Amino acid sequence: MKKVFLLLLALSTPLVQAFDSPREKLSLDRGWLFHLGDIPFPVVKGHQTSYLNAKAGSATGAAAPIYDDTDWRELDLPHDWASEAPFDPKANLAQGYRPRGIGWYRRYLHLDPADRGKHLELQFDGVSTHCTVWINGTLVHRNWCGYTSFTIDLTPLARFGDEYNTIAVRVDADAQEGWWYEGAGIYRHTWLTKRSPVHIATDGVFAQPVRTAQKSILPWQSDWKIPVEVTLQNSGQQTEKVQVETSLLDAEGHVAIQTSVDCEIDPLNETIATLSMFTNNPKLWSVDTPNLYQVRTVLRKSGKIVDESVHFCGFRTLRFDAETGFYLNDQPFKIHGVCNHQDHAGVGVAMPDSMWDFRLRLLKEMGVNAVRCSHHPPAAEFLEACDRLGMLVMDEARNFNASPEYIRQLEWMIRRDRNHPSVFLWSVFNEEPFQGTEVGYEMTRRMAAAVKRLDTTRPVTAAMSGGFFNPINVSSAVDVMGFNYHQQDYDAFHRQHPTLPILSSEDTSCFITRGEYRNDKEKQTGDSGDTYAARWGATHRNAWKAIATRPFIAGGFVWTGFDYHGEPTPFEWPSTSSSFGILDLCGFPKSAFYIHQAQWRNDLPVLELIPHWNWSGMENQPIRVMALSNAEKIELFLNTTSLGEKTVDPYEMVEWQVPYQPGTIEAVGKKNGKEVSRKRVETTGSPVSLELIADRPQIFGDGQDALPITVRALDEKKRPVPTAMLPVTFSLQGPADIIGLGNGDPRCHEPEKGNQRSLFNGLAQVIVQGQAGRSGLLILRAESKGVQSAELKIPVIPAQEKPFVAKARFGQRIDRWKASPGFSVKPNPLLQIPDNDMNSWSSVTPGKMISLTQGSWSIFSAKMKPFMPQQKNGGVIHFQCIEGKAEVWIDGKLSATKDDFSPGPLLAPFSPGTEERKIRILMESNKGKPIGFSSIICIQPRN
Ligand code: GAL
Repeated sequence: MKKVFLLLLALSTPLVQAFDSPREKLSLDRGWLFHLGDIPFPVVKGHQTSYLNAKAGSATGAAAPIYDDTDWRELDLPHDWASEAPFDPKANLAQGYRPRGIGWYRRYLHLDPADRGKHLELQFDGVSTHCTVWINGTLVHRNWCGYTSFTIDLTPLARFGDEYNTIAVRVDADAQEGWWYEGAGIYRHTWLTKRSPVHIATDGVFAQPVRTAQKSILPWQSDWKIPVEVTLQNSGQQTEKVQVETSLLDAEGHVAIQTSVDCEIDPLNETIATLSMFTNNPKLWSVDTPNLYQVRTVLRKSGKIVDESVHFCGFRTLRFDAETGFYLNDQPFKIHGVCNHQDHAGVGVAMPDSMWDFRLRLLKEMGVNAVRCSHHPPAAEFLEACDRLGMLVMDEARNFNASPEYIRQLEWMIRRDRNHPSVFLWSVFNEEPFQGTEVGYEMTRRMAAAVKRLDTTRPVTAAMSGGFFNPINVSSAVDVMGFNYHQQDYDAFHRQHPTLPILSSEDTSCFITRGEYRNDKEKQTGDSGDTYAARWGATHRNAWKAIATRPFIAGGFVWTGFDYHGEPTPFEWPSTSSSFGILDLCGFPKSAFYIHQAQWRNDLPVLELIPHWNWSGMENQPIRVMALSNAEKIELFLNTTSLGEKTVDPYEMVEWQVPYQPGTIEAVGKKNGKEVSRKRVETTGSPVSLELIADRPQIFGDGQDALPITVRALDEKKRPVPTAMLPVTFSLQGPADIIGLGNGDPRCHEPEKGNQRSLFNGLAQVIVQGQAGRSGLLILRAESKGVQSAELKIPVIPAQEKPFVAKARFGQRIDRWKASPGFSVKPNPLLQIPDNDMNSWSSVTPGKMISLTQGSWSIFSAKMKPFMPQQKNGGVIHFQCIEGKAEVWIDGKLSATKDDFSPGPLLAPFSPGTEERKIRILMESNKGKPIGFSSIICIQPRN
């Protein structure tokens, strides 16, 4: 055993001790209030207003702690307001002809007094696009990237008990960072974490296993090392001595290794604890066997656990070879990759977590083994799914910029994602105009260095689309050269740079509309026969051939796996989404799915025949029939007559011209003369019924789980009708909701929300989500005039919800007061103070009393604009507890009086009206005793 001084234990006992970590990570997704459109801030004018405008805690308008949001819509996150909006031909085509604009969110937060003293942190996983966040009226964060998370230390601003906390977020989605659909709003999760003042920082554990020897022969020799770095923070008031303990747990939860180190950390400081674990012969992570371990890091203070963090980890090696390509765990590994954006039909970018699994399963079925997150960091849940399901990830920064804010964004990506075994490449940009220049080279050098400071275990790449041959260009600042398109330059570049590994970071860009068989500029369709490539791209078949036939190209990433909203190239309105996808916007496979499956999967006989065989009116005209297959030969039959056998070109596939006759075409795939696959396509009748097919047999009632359900039309022989375009109406009973609809037609302008969607070439998709805390049977009905309806019953299974922060809503309060100095003679309560006198009167908040240093009278002053219901009906100011005698004056009129000194409540009515009210309270102290409000002041309706 090595490095015994690290207290290394090779244990194999089951984990019996359930760590009772005080850390709580709570979902903050529920109960946000939303306002579509900007709310301009009140004009800042006059001395008093200008002075206050510049102060902490004094934000105004919708950013203020108290603001009339009575009529805002309540919703749960994730939320993408762009996907709710109708398509608009005047909006930007790149963003899918969806208006974006500005929106506001507010969330109230109640914190228990028991939380006082804890380290409290808010986390926003993704807000599109720029945003500003205020907590309790103080501006705490400006975010400049729609794809990076941010955290906010709530601790110094937090209020407890019956005081409330307000989070206000102004989201500016007029700002754009992409040329694709980016959605709008708080579209990823939000969290509140409660930790001990001395704690492990967010994304603060880095533990990437590294192989140190080829293979351990002797059991006590380690062949893997896990260097662990733990970033600790202390928001408490004293220096803390802690012990950091880290363990590796196997899939069964057994502690395989454990080690610890002692640390000291000063208040309001950060320190990094470094440890090492060693092990041998671990089960390796690969795309086929995604074996995962867990790294559990525990922080102990005086022996007691004060914080804990757990994450998955995987053992695997990566290597790029300039001659022979990529190796995963020393095995040659051709990258069968796809590029993807992050949206889906019906939900836009507000992707339920389970939809990542759905999409990844489809890609794996096709034979995809790597995804490029183009052109931005993905959701954390996507990476978790890639670790779990076995998918490599090229993780890409959004902004190419080496200035401090952008380096911060890049560092965030590395810190958050560097523990994921799935992540195998860091990409610092996609197609940048500076790529062939010295400026680009210098910027890339700096960005690559920033990456290496945080992770040296993965290579850095950049997706270049030109400038490769310029004397100074970015390729000399990266570990792996990423070629976007320009496949004709592979050989020359490789000759010039024989030691630089190359991969195709992007290729193909071929337009296919699912179920369409013509390139029709009028109708805006792309041929399923893989014939319509972008000028800069290639067909699916040609692009892969260029990669597959060159061992020095490590593999490629097809543009794209799925269609996405926006970038409807080569079309414009009425097309609103792309048609580059191998699968459409709903995840329905196009023909290209089978081309790639045939090329990428050798563990499965693949045979698909296109087109459909419903060509009524085209009798005897030649139809191009293609077999997409990994068989050696295909024999094709038309209505049982053989049309002969052809050899399958593994890149080109195989095709025939068949004079159309209704009936059947059937292909038989053969290897070594034996049948290995068979596919039949029949002429169908017209639709007579609908059918609903769920992706899974059940759904969880946790408010999160989402289930895509396919809708299709059948003829009287129950055969799917590939040309059906029926309008379908859905109704749902039971503990679930429809959260989105789609059909994969880029030209369809039907809303993606609601309960109606037409089939497009035989298919549509409805996505349902189980309600939180509910269970029972979900009954979905699909109806269309003239055909038999379909009904589907899906059990909604009771499920543990993610721990969450309860919704909170507060009525109007008055919590900002000014108190005059003491008067020894009863003053006029309406006494004026000059606008430029900022210092004679002091700030007072309810809950805190004041003691007068002279006299026994003081005037309290505040302003209040009644919320909408009280504007209409009038209301009552409810002082829950006033200490001292009091006269309440509203707009110069006496409204209520309290005649005794003892603490007590007071109700002060006010009349209807929209204007702001000026409130004055003349208070009198009993022989120098403190006066003021010992509790909150709320506005109530008038009875
Ligand atoms: C590339 C670009 C992608 C997409 C694609 C369309 O140049 O990187 O984001 O626009 O073209 O072909």
